Amino acid sequence: MKKIATIVVLVLTASIAFIGCDNKRETGKIYMPDMAYSRAYETYAQRDSAAFTTDATAKGAKIYYDNNPVQGTIKRGELFPYTLPNDSNGYKMSATVMNPIAAMTEAQMKEAGRLFNINCAICHGEKGAGNGPIATAGKIGGIANLTLEAYVKMTDGTMFHSLTYGKNNMGSYASQLSRDQRWMVIKYVRSLQPKPATEAAAAVSDTTKKI
Ligand code: HEC
Repeated sequence: MKKIATIVVLVLTASIAFIGCDNKRETGKIYMPDMAYSRAYETYAQRDSAAFTTDATAKGAKIYYDNNPVQGTIKRGELFPYTLPNDSNGYKMSATVMNPIAAMTEAQMKEAGRLFNINCAICHGEKGAGNGPIATAGKIGGIANLTLEAYVKMTDGTMFHSLTYGKNNMGSYASQLSRDQRWMVIKYVRSLQPKPATEAAAAVSDTTKKI
């Protein structure tokens, strides 16, 4: 009796084991499909393609990736989009755009300095004097010395425009730094610059007033 039971169990186990792979051309029977197939919510699954495209005409067939956030959307906590166009007219108009950050706390200034040293100092130098390692190695020409008068006079808006779109040998920082961070870094650049002549004179007259 015991022998028969052992044989039955063995036969059953063997047949269950072989049911799954009796025909190589068919997929085997699946025990626990939840484990075989992912139940993850696959947004683009109906497109049946793992290939990404940036070609708008192939949008229906493949996963379309245009590198930009959905039009008209703003990331939580992000500033309003910058709308001036990347052309000479936009560059000119950028001079009137105000920096939304009036004053920075000590912590913000420290963070802005960290971002500057990571992203900008390689070219512009830690003090912004245009003598970072890439500049001194002569790899990239025309790196701006941000402590010069021309840049002291340049408005925050124009700097933001150039950081957003890039300018000649300087690339765009729109994907590395959020809008908020770009405005912060500009404030940091200001801290590296000598004070404009008029402001310095005003400061002097202020002191005389106090005396
Ligand atoms: C790859 C080297 C490089 C890096 C990195 C770089 N810059 Fe520049 N930057 C340049 C060059 C070159 C110019 C001069 C562009 C021109 O006027 O031809 C420039 C110009 C500028 C200007 C003047 C823009 C104008 O409108 O004339 C500002 C402001 C500036 N950079 C700030 C920054 C800040 C802030 C960062 C970091 C987020 C940064 N740069 C990173 C190379 C660089």
